[in-house]
Amino acid sequence: MEITKLSGAVGAEITNLDLTRLDDAGFDNLRSALFSHGMVVIRAQSLTSEAHIALAERFGSIDVNRFFHPLPTHPMIAEVRTKPDMSKVIGGTWHTDHSYDPAPAMCSILAARVLPPFGGDTLFASMSAAYMGLSEGLKNTLRGLRAVHSDSSFAESNVGLDPDRTAFREPAVHPVIIAHPDTGAPCLYVNGDFTLNFEGWSVEESAPLLSYLYAHATRPEYSCRLNWQPGSVAIWDNRLVQHFACADYAGHARLMHRITVEGQTLSAF
Ligand code: SIN
Repeated sequence: MEITKLSGAVGAEITNLDLTRLDDAGFDNLRSALFSHGMVVIRAQSLTSEAHIALAERFGSIDVNRFFHPLPTHPMIAEVRTKPDMSKVIGGTWHTDHSYDPAPAMCSILAARVLPPFGGDTLFASMSAAYMGLSEGLKNTLRGLRAVHSDSSFAESNVGLDPDRTAFREPAVHPVIIAHPDTGAPCLYVNGDFTLNFEGWSVEESAPLLSYLYAHATRPEYSCRLNWQPGSVAIWDNRLVQHFACADYAGHARLMHRITVEGQTLSAF
């Protein structure tokens, strides 16, 4: 396989790779590329739902999202669907998948099924680059903090999910600067969709610093933009990146199939 970086801080395109014919050495290289680049895209794949599930299971057990609509034929796969009459999209703000869980998802694998004629890109931002770009003073302060994450934003989301009330859980608490579980790299771990406040701080006290961190974390130099093509499959590491689905294709449908893979509890850097 050949790996070409998409930007200075995050993302890589892998060529000469068929995701359905990966031997163990090939899979180890793919996993290492994911940990180095935060997001990898592999183009022109013919990934059936069975092959999508089999690929995910090589990373770990599947963590079925409790808010998304499952694929009727393959309930381990979540549909990320935009209908032509929708003005908002699932994931249309910067976020980290499943940060509201005590052991948040490790990676997500998204396969393009129906693409709009233009737009519908996904942006990714590196949370290790964001951490490195902070001053030593703020790094030191943040290393002593934990933050509360909640799934409550799904109650107000207007993107065709209609979650059942029994799906909601108690908030989870994670270090603000985590050590990446596989590489040990420090990563900023707060996001605008699910982080409510710093532990022991009120929501109002937390808001100014969180707002600063969200703006800092998604600076262009820490991010890249993925343009989907038929057959594209992207894999991202939710401890290392945040992502944002761009809602710029009003009047057109888009359908992606997503699998999230189980992660682990997160430790402070
Ligand atoms: C998501 O937030 O997982 C969806 C990303 C996308 O649809 O591009």
